[in-house]
Amino acid sequence: SLVARQRFLQSTCIFTRHFSKTSQSNAKVAVLGASGGIGQPLSLLLKINPAITKLALYDIANTVGVAADLSHCSTVAQVTGYEGASQLRECLEGCDVVVIPAGVPRKPGMTRDDLFNTNAGIVRDLADACAQYCPKAMICVICNPVNSTVPIASEMFKKRGVYDPNRIFGVTTLDIVRSDTFISQAKGLDVSQVNCPVIGGHSGTTIIPVISQCSPPVNFPLDVHEKLTARIQNAGTEVLEAKAGTGSATLSMAYAGARFVGSVIDGLNGVDGIVECAFVRSDETEAKYFSTPLLLGKNGVEKNLGLGKLVDIEVDLIKAAIPELKKNIEKGEEFAHAGD
Ligand code: NAD
Ligand code: LMR
Repeated sequence: SLVARQRFLQSTCIFTRHFSKTSQSNAKVAVLGASGGIGQPLSLLLKINPAITKLALYDIANTVGVAADLSHCSTVAQVTGYEGASQLRECLEGCDVVVIPAGVPRKPGMTRDDLFNTNAGIVRDLADACAQYCPKAMICVICNPVNSTVPIASEMFKKRGVYDPNRIFGVTTLDIVRSDTFISQAKGLDVSQVNCPVIGGHSGTTIIPVISQCSPPVNFPLDVHEKLTARIQNAGTEVLEAKAGTGSATLSMAYAGARFVGSVIDGLNGVDGIVECAFVRSDETEAKYFSTPLLLGKNGVEKNLGLGKLVDIEVDLIKAAIPELKKNIEKGEEFAHAGD
């Protein structure tokens, strides 16, 4: 019947309704680390975003298979696989957005900073390639520790003389996705209507939920508020422990990453009022990089919307986070200049 057909059409448009406000664009997006736990489901979600017409998948292994598999999905994006450093240039040329989930994940008992020794070099080399082959692209860094890998990527762009602080983002969307989910569950709200900013960085106590700015407004007794804050800060570890040695969050990260990339593309396409939190170069606090809500536009960050009005507990959380953030940022910057 007509109604059934209408429903079917709506269901195939599910991505447009949730992830992208525009279906007209010719965005080329590269996923670096596309064969991994995040890379594969993230690439799938990007393949069904109608605003993406070219999807370039890069990894050091297995991209030919992942690309062949995804290329059979009946959506517009043309999928190409690139394997190994010699193919990185071709992958990156012409990119509007590059998303970087390459890198090793935590095992139970590790902090995100424990990943630094392996992942810092991976991000340094990938960012240097981006600076050479797609210097104007929006760079979305998922690889941990984000508090250090974003400064590393930024320094590599500076070294090539192509740095634009409005185009390099640490993806913290998963923290917002989690806070929205947990708050909606606690209050029995429709999760699609809940939006709770999470600011600061992306590790332990540097993750700062701003529950006082939640939309719609929500109130919790102090002990519940503190428990909720702690759960949002430790949610990565919650998944890590549940997966018991087989990896960290991948599916929820793919969901969050696809949402963030969709918003960046909406910004590029001139859609008004696109706001996401992300870890960027910032003058909002003493830390050189800090996540706050950002208005996205044709040139990346259009406007930093800042800290906004905070309650005492949130001010204290920021104070406690700054020393750790500064340490993580300096560690990344020093690494990027180690061989100079
Ligand atoms: P994974 O091990 O499943 O996948 C990583 C992929 O990166 C692999 O396919 C690997 O071959 C590839 N890779 C390694 N070195 C590479 C290089 N030089 N160039 C290109 N690809 C390379 O790991 P995962 O679970 O997908 O996690 C990836 C990263 O994302 C980890 O660092 C993890 O901590 C991080 N992460 C961040 C967030 C966040 O909120 N920002 C959330 C979850 C995970
Ligand atoms: C997360 O928050 O899930 C990621 O940063 C992965 C991790 O190591 O917890």
